[in-house]
Amino acid sequence: MATFTSTSRQPFNAEHVRKDFPFFETGVAYLDSANTSQRPRHVLYAMDEYFEQFNSNVHRAAYHVSEVATERYEGTREAVRRFINAHSAKEVINTRGTTEGINLVAYSWGQKNIKAGDLIVLTILEHHSNIVPWQILAAKTGARLEWVDVDEQGELRLEQYHALLEQKPKLVTLSQISNAIGTINPAKQMVHDAKRAGATVLVDGAQGAPHQGVDVRDLGCDFYAFSGHKMLGPTGAGILWGRRELLEAMDPFMAGGDMIKAVRQEGTTYADLPLKFEAGTQAVAEVIGLGAAIEYLEGLGMENITRHEREITEYAMEALSELPGLRIFGPPVERRAGVVSFEVEGIHPHDLSTIVDRHGVALRAGHHCAMPLMIRLDVPATSRASFYVYTIKDDVDRLVEAVADAQRIFA
Ligand SMILES: Cc1ncc(COP(=O)(O)O)c(C=O)c1O
Repeated sequence: MATFTSTSRQPFNAEHVRKDFPFFETGVAYLDSANTSQRPRHVLYAMDEYFEQFNSNVHRAAYHVSEVATERYEGTREAVRRFINAHSAKEVINTRGTTEGINLVAYSWGQKNIKAGDLIVLTILEHHSNIVPWQILAAKTGARLEWVDVDEQGELRLEQYHALLEQKPKLVTLSQISNAIGTINPAKQMVHDAKRAGATVLVDGAQGAPHQGVDVRDLGCDFYAFSGHKMLGPTGAGILWGRRELLEAMDPFMAGGDMIKAVRQEGTTYADLPLKFEAGTQAVAEVIGLGAAIEYLEGLGMENITRHEREITEYAMEALSELPGLRIFGPPVERRAGVVSFEVEGIHPHDLSTIVDRHGVALRAGHHCAMPLMIRLDVPATSRASFYVYTIKDDVDRLVEAVADAQRIFA
């Protein structure tokens, strides 16, 4: 397997880290990591190695290369277990990403456990993938949804949350970190309070796992979903972690090959965890790539990553604030992940993205799959710069210069 070029070097140095990512040879100042991250050579090599040396399906054949593929595939499951501190690798389900993980829970857990009149609590900060599955479930079952609002800083109104908990919700679902404005939610406290109120709790870790890491036992939730492609892995590989007793009581989400114990004309018995939830041929190379991404992140150290992102975020917030007519959404840097969402007076975010793109700056514009939040903030869209392990101050400087240029054009 490929070796790291820089990850074991201390102290953490983003300039060195960046050299592990071939993408940066393009010269693009990539500021859209909350959307999808870049991949280090370590991940690319791990996937190439699979294709070149042991390309085969997993769990199905007794020949050597398939055994190697299965070993690497299952190796990722163990790496994930370690990364999130789960009790058992049986609780780690491979999915295509956060969206699939949440849909799995809404379907397999929700349809069995949510009844007419039940309350589902979610927050206004959620990504559409942690909204729409619950709206569909509520429409099917007759359950109702209640939303926790945010204050002027884009932080959840906890007094309102606690009032909702008094109504004994069946399910509470919340994001660890908002992708749209970067708010770090007090997830551990919120999960604890929801559990005390008797709710089942899902945490959307799409932004949490890559930027803060997670200890699911410490967090105390029942389900935790995240995506590999936002944490240096490839697209198409994500994880749903769930408490074993809940997963065991749930029906399969998809049915077909691999998720069975025995199939007879009279009926079928299902495989044990985790394969009960992994029907059909899986994204083997991508799962192997995710395992390599986790190794790489562990090599860097999650604490170093969080600290680096905080520094870059602070730098970006200060530099952007110096531009006239620019408004930043969301909380102060102490309670914010590496996301700076902003609007510039007189320039639509899409126009801004087009102009900064001419400067080689990749900046996201839009609703960030959080339309209810945009409506709450009373904006059609925002510009969003988001950072990761490889972001350097020069990327931010280039953004600031490009935004200033857009302001000159629109003046
Ligand atoms: C907070 C959050 N939840 C869910 C998702 C959906 O992730 P995916 O598209 O990888 O399934 C995203 C992606 O932007 C996200 O940021």
